[in-house]
Amino acid sequence: MEFPRNFIWGTATSAHQTEGNDNNCDWWDWETRELPKGRRGPEEPSGVGCNSYARYTEDFDLCRKLNNNAVRFSLAWNRIEPEEGKFDQEAVEHYKKVIQAAKSRGLKTFVALHHFTNPSWFAKKGAFLNFRSPFYFSRYAKYCSQQFGELIDFYLTINEPQVYTFMSYFKGIWPPNHKNPLESLLVQINLLRSHVQAYKAIKSQGNHPVGIVKHIVWYETDPEKGSFLDKIAARLVFNLNCKYFLNPIRKYLDFLGVNYYFTQVISGLHIRNPKDNVSDMGWWINPSGLESILLKLKKYQIPIYITENGVADAKDTIRENFIHDMLLTCYKAISKGVDLKGYFYWSLIDNYEWNHGYWPRFGLVEIDRQDNLKRIPRKSFFYYAKICRANNILP
Ligand code: BGC
Repeated sequence: MEFPRNFIWGTATSAHQTEGNDNNCDWWDWETRELPKGRRGPEEPSGVGCNSYARYTEDFDLCRKLNNNAVRFSLAWNRIEPEEGKFDQEAVEHYKKVIQAAKSRGLKTFVALHHFTNPSWFAKKGAFLNFRSPFYFSRYAKYCSQQFGELIDFYLTINEPQVYTFMSYFKGIWPPNHKNPLESLLVQINLLRSHVQAYKAIKSQGNHPVGIVKHIVWYETDPEKGSFLDKIAARLVFNLNCKYFLNPIRKYLDFLGVNYYFTQVISGLHIRNPKDNVSDMGWWINPSGLESILLKLKKYQIPIYITENGVADAKDTIRENFIHDMLLTCYKAISKGVDLKGYFYWSLIDNYEWNHGYWPRFGLVEIDRQDNLKRIPRKSFFYYAKICRANNILP
């Protein structure tokens, strides 16, 4: 089961989840602030992270050991533009070194400009609730493309815009803890506008490939108990998650990044997932959901990269099977004509899992938080390394 030549094999991380001391952003403010009564914060603050801000060469060496030919990470907007309209040359120089370190190890760079966190100044302006947010975001995107140019091989504008909106403005469990459907609609519209403006801004600086990272969930109905209404609901939520979001920006995508983690089963208009075959976070693992999504995306006729796919599995007992089965699904989708060009496992290292803190362990590499954040490759690390070297799924 050989993959196409030049298939991209990588792993993914993000700035706030790994760099450490990522202050001056809304998440850091939320993690360290006394919250008003009734508002829940994260289980623990991100603190020193994995200290990847200093230890990035060590991390990229691990990518080499994985026989990867690409790496995905993000830039912290708050470091690059710590105050409104004021860009920090030192931060830019730092990220140039980071990107060069990846490239000198033969890794193509997939770099996200926004991965859930906002600079504190931007958050104070209402972040993506602000009608002028596309202006602020695209100004930053333009600056990045001027500074980094071709050092970045693939520009990813925004990571999981709908997850961000849902968690921050609908469910209200991420900063700024709003529970307001109208606001979440406005935020989604502004994120779409921001993507389009950022796309144009980056393109004005050179013909760099630009895409978005979209989290897509597959929805199924219970084969025995599923009703007609369940089927309609499943189709509606899938469309809200997929085509209603992607269609308006279709012209502004050179490629699409897809993050896939789980499938939801709808029964009696409620989500009732099977209890077996779940990750440490209780997410139902269903590789065939990924194939269904990829087949649905075929009609867009643009290259697709799986920009995240992974499992929280502290004991590393299910990760190898997870990778095997998901890749088998990718292989099948490619055989059915899907233009799938790459796969990034989430994550290279255990990292800060947002409101959950550090307990969920997604890494191919364990981070020993008791021993100086020591990087310890898990068994599944070697399994994935073999696949990436062979460009082929191994039993
Ligand atoms: C996000 C990551 C997160 C991962 C696992 C994705 O939603 O992009 O930041 O750690 O899923 O939850």
